[in-house]
Amino acid sequence: MSQGNTVGFGLLGAGLIAPFHAKSIQAAEGCELIAVADMNAERAAKCADTFGCEAVSSLEDLLGDDRIDVVCILTPNHLHHDAAVAAARAGKHVLTEKPPAMSLAETDAMIAACREAGVHLGVVLQCRVRKPIQAMRRAIAEGRFGRLIHADVYMKWFRAADYYRMDPWRSSRRSGAGVTIQHAFHYIDLVQYLMGPVTEVSARMTNMAHGDVDLEDTLDASLTYANGARGVVVASTAMWPGADVRIEINGSDGAAVMAGERMERWQFRQERDGDEAIRALGRGAVATAASGPADFDFADHQVVIEAMAEAVRGRGEPFIAAPSARKTLEIALAMYQSAARDVPVRLPVEDDPTIWK
Ligand SMILES: NC(=O)c1ccc[n+]([C@@H]2O[C@H](COP(=O)([O-])OP(=O)(O)OC[C@H]3O[C@@H](n4cnc5c(N)ncnc54)[C@H](O)[C@@H]3O)[C@@H](O)[C@H]2O)c1
Repeated sequence: MSQGNTVGFGLLGAGLIAPFHAKSIQAAEGCELIAVADMNAERAAKCADTFGCEAVSSLEDLLGDDRIDVVCILTPNHLHHDAAVAAARAGKHVLTEKPPAMSLAETDAMIAACREAGVHLGVVLQCRVRKPIQAMRRAIAEGRFGRLIHADVYMKWFRAADYYRMDPWRSSRRSGAGVTIQHAFHYIDLVQYLMGPVTEVSARMTNMAHGDVDLEDTLDASLTYANGARGVVVASTAMWPGADVRIEINGSDGAAVMAGERMERWQFRQERDGDEAIRALGRGAVATAASGPADFDFADHQVVIEAMAEAVRGRGEPFIAAPSARKTLEIALAMYQSAARDVPVRLPVEDDPTIWK
């Protein structure tokens, strides 16, 4: 560790998400941002100036710095695997942005490399931190919903055409730029986190409003969960002006809806003390990325960073461990396979690289 109990962080990638990590590290007790690496020197310098750390050009620079305990991988999705494996082999703990990688094989290789090196591998799926999600998870575990019937995602977002032109990877299927693996991934993750395994998906993918990119900007999927419930995922970046994501859970004895970060509905046949307080969760919350890629707060990232630092200190595990994020990746990949073949797909699935063609 860099000094005493201080956990040193290095960022790989100084793009859109980097400030969320930098602010979180600075706000987290006992954490220090040591350096930011980007092959784009201007971006690295700007980020380093803003957050008062060193600017370097490559992952190797971070790996050679003994003050750095954790490398945060903030590069485009198709680059997570190589960086994570290299960081693990250099003895660094790894916190990668979502999705963990572009295939199950790559994700498994990252998990194996970190296990062999004895380092932690965390994935940033920070929406799990939201208080309404934690309340839903507890209520499901306690059986308050009765028989679970439906768990749904409605992500009706808008991204203007220039979003897809900001960086070359944002319009590349192989880099993981489609709405399913890039944007909806967080919310597919939430229903997987809340409901448990998915056994079958049926998906359609279309491009409704971004004709100059070869990507799906709209996903309609239906899910069957192992617990017998059904669900739908409607996710789009074509729906101006964009609305807060809705996560809806319905059971025989209860109903809950999170909109953005707010608990919009929390109703059970058996009301309990504390339900009124749960209904107030997220009131006055800030934007949640419905209308722009950086329109959200860093507080949830901070919780993920703090948990990672505690794991490095030998206290606990990363907030989102990689095997759990792998389950979400598998569901997303099954959706691509279903849409490509126009058939329902049962899980587990194997990798099928033809989905990116
Ligand atoms: N958790 C969230 O809510 C959230 C939000 C946005 C993005 N993300 C994720 O964060 C990651 C990055 O997204 P972004 O929007 O910041 O992308 P970005 O394109 O804005 O930034 C990526 C940066 O990585 C740099 N880079 C690429 N290859 C490199 C290499 N080999 N060495 C050094 N630097 C390299 C690029 O120059 C660029 O500056 C993606 O995985 C994305 O899915 C997560």
